[in-house]
Amino acid sequence: EASTIGVDIGGTKILAGVLDPHGKVLARRQVPTPGHDVQLVEDSIVSIVQDLRRSHEIAAVGIGAAGFVDATRRVVMFSPHLNWRREPLQSAIAKRVRLPVVVDNDANTAGVAECLYGAARGHRFVLCITLGTGIGGALIIDGKVFRGNNGMAGEFGHMQMVPTGHRCECGNRGCWEQYASGTALLRDARELIANGSPLAHRLRELVDGDPARLTGPQVTQEARNGDPLSLELLSDIGEWLGVGLAGLAAAFDPSCIVIGGGLSDAGDLLLRPTRSAFSKALTGRGHRSEPAIVVAALGPEAGFIGAADMARSAARKARRRT
Ligand code: BGC
Ligand code: NA
Ligand code: ZN
Repeated sequence: EASTIGVDIGGTKILAGVLDPHGKVLARRQVPTPGHDVQLVEDSIVSIVQDLRRSHEIAAVGIGAAGFVDATRRVVMFSPHLNWRREPLQSAIAKRVRLPVVVDNDANTAGVAECLYGAARGHRFVLCITLGTGIGGALIIDGKVFRGNNGMAGEFGHMQMVPTGHRCECGNRGCWEQYASGTALLRDARELIANGSPLAHRLRELVDGDPARLTGPQVTQEARNGDPLSLELLSDIGEWLGVGLAGLAAAFDPSCIVIGGGLSDAGDLLLRPTRSAFSKALTGRGHRSEPAIVVAALGPEAGFIGAADMARSAARKARRRT
């Protein structure tokens, strides 16, 4: 049986890889998301696929897309971070690579991978949250993604947490992802650098005074080095994360909450404050068992691994039909 390719398209970067039939990653690629231009994003996907195919025999391609994928899983109806509007991504890519192609939301693919190979193995009621440019979400029950009426269930990042809050790229105000994502972290850090805050001296030094140059991984690294501001920023994000998760736990009562995406690299620096805010805000606390809140075992690769796994199932089905 041939391998498959998974491509995870986020607001900031594209991560891709080749997965063998046993779930092992044989090769990986990472490129920055080429701005918001739909055609350029499509070109990047195609060139990554063609490049990986030169050294591997590939049966199908799976794409995890940062956006609202429709119920047919062919069209990205809307994306807050990219310019997809009713974009027929599945057919656009299939036409160019001439392989079976499947598309799903990026957090759904990450959640599926964590259920199959990662931190949520053995759990029946799983919430997966990805923290990157935005907040992605997936609710997975008995191994199946809960999809809702439009295919768009799990857009937890756009729950309104602060009615008069920060404007979100989705157009609304006060969405959760404006308070608990990589974007939120950078917004606060850059503001402190720009304002000349004495708290930000280490971060300012790091970017030679230019707030725009700051990246999420730099803040995580500085937190690890003990920079008090970076630690505080991660802890603020963690608190917002914990409060939002308590709301989701009230709604869905999961047994396992997996945190993935680039920001989950911060590990306990983020999740310690998350767990403590979660436990303070969870309804019925003391009268229920609390879900474990854990880092994605597959780390930032969960998204493309899940996409590649979905592609393999699709390729098997296609073979059975012929
Ligand atoms: C989008 C989701 C996506 C998430 C993570 C959110 O802003 O609405 O579709 O899963 O970001 O990329
Ligand atoms: Na989702
Ligand atoms: Zn929003």
